Amino acid sequence: MKNVEVLDFQPKLMDFKEEIVMGLRKDPKQTDPKLLYDEAGSQLFEQITVLPEYYPTRTELKIMKEYSCLISEMIGKDTSILEFGSGSHTKISLLLENLQEPAAYIPVDISKSILEESVNHLSHRFPKLMIKGICTDYTKPFQLPIEVRKAKKRVVFFPGSTYGNFEPLVGQNFLKRTSKLLQKGDGLLIGVDTKKELPILEDAYNDSQNVTAEFNLNLLKRINREHSADFKLDTFRHHAFYNEEIGRIEMHLISTVDQKVSIDEDIFHFREGESIHTENSYKYEPEEFKKITEQCGFKREAVWLDEKGHFSIHYFTVK
Ligand code: AVI
Repeated sequence: MKNVEVLDFQPKLMDFKEEIVMGLRKDPKQTDPKLLYDEAGSQLFEQITVLPEYYPTRTELKIMKEYSCLISEMIGKDTSILEFGSGSHTKISLLLENLQEPAAYIPVDISKSILEESVNHLSHRFPKLMIKGICTDYTKPFQLPIEVRKAKKRVVFFPGSTYGNFEPLVGQNFLKRTSKLLQKGDGLLIGVDTKKELPILEDAYNDSQNVTAEFNLNLLKRINREHSADFKLDTFRHHAFYNEEIGRIEMHLISTVDQKVSIDEDIFHFREGESIHTENSYKYEPEEFKKITEQCGFKREAVWLDEKGHFSIHYFTVK
């Protein structure tokens, strides 16, 4: 096994087009949140993570720093760390720095460019560490390389409350699949955003610099560029709100006029005020999340929160 490499199972553009067309044929229209992350979308998301209103990233980092010794103890020595969605290196660097002799780092991401950048950066930062990137859609079934399956212990690191972007059933299936991908005693270190006061939640998705709006609208730019569509960006507006009953932030793009949009040969009609539902971000109380995860093959070993209870990091092991 090479010390540093990227295995490429990136989905083809065509796969995305079918997903987009299917979603826009639904009533109400919707798209999968993972489509928000082309190169520009990923960069915009990085900008979101440092916005004053967007509390999740800095709160999660604070928890990780405060409890780094306990987290490292739970993960143990000689463990292979798998990261699902290897966006930025800040969190993984902090984790790896505090671990005792990690065996390998296996980032798994849908974007090849992000993965390569991350592998490159971390191989300089941790020159002795074995790094094997896997470019694939981790929300679908995939296999771990044999070396990883044979390693002493595996821990999946899934920070950032990305779990909150799954619909509940999809999330539960993801957890079940993850527990099957791992072995008894392996771990899951997962960051989960909690329920809190409405203004804090809504401000985080309606920032004063409009970066979140740009991130949302970038989806239409992406579809125009990759699939010969003719969305007029100035006829859609960003709309995000907390749906208290369901416990989720909803992000939409609202058509401001009656209009027709084509994606290649497919035509879609929009009424004024009609929305494309682009993302949900579910929020979970720690005990609510424990219950869900324990129904999917895991046992919770520890949970850490910040002093305001705005964010949680859980450590589970496979039963
Ligand atoms: C990646 N994910 C956890 C973010 C969230 O908070 O749901 C995505 C995001 N969407 C708008 N702002 C941030």
